[in-house]
Amino acid sequence: MAELLAEIKKRLTSGDEASRKLFQRDLHETIASVETPKETAIRLSLYPLQAAAARIGHDLRIFQTLDTQGPQTVSELQALTGAHALTLGRLLRYMASVGLIRQSSADTFEANSKCRHLAAPEAVTIVTHFFENCGPLFQEMPAFLRKNNYQDVTDGKATVFQPAYHTELDTYTYFSQHPDNLTALIKYMGLERDVRGRWLKEYPFETQTQSWNPSAEEALFVDVGGNVGHYCALFKGQFPQLAGRIVLEDLPDTLNHALPTPGVEKLGHDFFQPQPIKGAKFYHLGWILHNWSDEKAKNILRQIKTAMAPHSVLLINDMILPDSGAPPFATALDLVMLGACGSLERTGQQWKELLGDVGLSINEAVVYDQESFHGLISATVA
Ligand SMILES: C[S@@+](CC[C@H](N)C(=O)[O-])C[C@H]1O[C@@H](n2cnc3c(N)ncnc32)[C@H](O)[C@@H]1O
Repeated sequence: MAELLAEIKKRLTSGDEASRKLFQRDLHETIASVETPKETAIRLSLYPLQAAAARIGHDLRIFQTLDTQGPQTVSELQALTGAHALTLGRLLRYMASVGLIRQSSADTFEANSKCRHLAAPEAVTIVTHFFENCGPLFQEMPAFLRKNNYQDVTDGKATVFQPAYHTELDTYTYFSQHPDNLTALIKYMGLERDVRGRWLKEYPFETQTQSWNPSAEEALFVDVGGNVGHYCALFKGQFPQLAGRIVLEDLPDTLNHALPTPGVEKLGHDFFQPQPIKGAKFYHLGWILHNWSDEKAKNILRQIKTAMAPHSVLLINDMILPDSGAPPFATALDLVMLGACGSLERTGQQWKELLGDVGLSINEAVVYDQESFHGLISATVA
């Protein structure tokens, strides 16, 4: 058995990313194929409790404590967390039963690999964001769709979010009034920057700016809905030599959290209103259009298009889904978009139609991350 497991582990950690993923999928399918229907149904139905246990484990710093301080008894953990011994023991027993931690004796628990992964700061960010900002959507989605007769959802003020969060507000207005949700989203956005920031290396900014000679007022890079300015900071860091203003635009509440990057201007702006910066070299829309139905997305695009000069380029950093075989993270985010915003992740064809409808033409569309199908579209006025 040990040999077999070692061989499987070797296959799971060697080879290229695509064959590793394929082997991982085959293994999961093999395990599922020998389960009984009851086992499959129970495993699936109780997944939300595992997410809740991870969230509780983070609140109590269980994973970090076991990871850094070694095996702990319930009473040692009780002293650290202040939780009731019986409640804590039950939580730990559940976590161990689903493999989040290991139970080494009746009242002692220790770290295993899942525990060590969950102890990482990025795991805290991911679990917090998905649990707090998406969990209620998953719970509400079946009832909402049933009531809506499974029709298309295009209104961000009448989607799963409102019953899930008992509000009439759209997601971003609600988050702007709920600092814990907003902070969780901002932290998650910061984390995604590691993968999604790759587009800055993909696009030939230097060759595209060879004949760019801006006056003091002209803008080089305008990040529309740029959140706290991760991409403005990356852009500034990567191209300090390129001339022109760098402008971070977002709603004022979000800009209150903006990173203090020297050389980046902050401008409160609602992207449904006319774009105040005219004739910039680059306008960037990162993870914006996937938040909006086609109708609203076209409205945002028109505001930018009206401000674009012949030299302006619109850069859209969003998923470009394949027609088939989209990976689970991409399809999950698509449904999160449905639930949170009444919107969608788009295929290459859907992007082409959306931009074409407002008179923008695509120069290039590149998928720069095959795992999630993150892509970059560059477009100019047709
Ligand atoms: C999913 S985040 C994307 C952030 C960033 N562009 C990125 O790529 O990570 C969407 C952003 O749109 C902003 N936003 C939502 N509605 C807006 C509006 N009407 N006008 C301007 N910004 C808005 C939010 O505050 C948030 O920062």
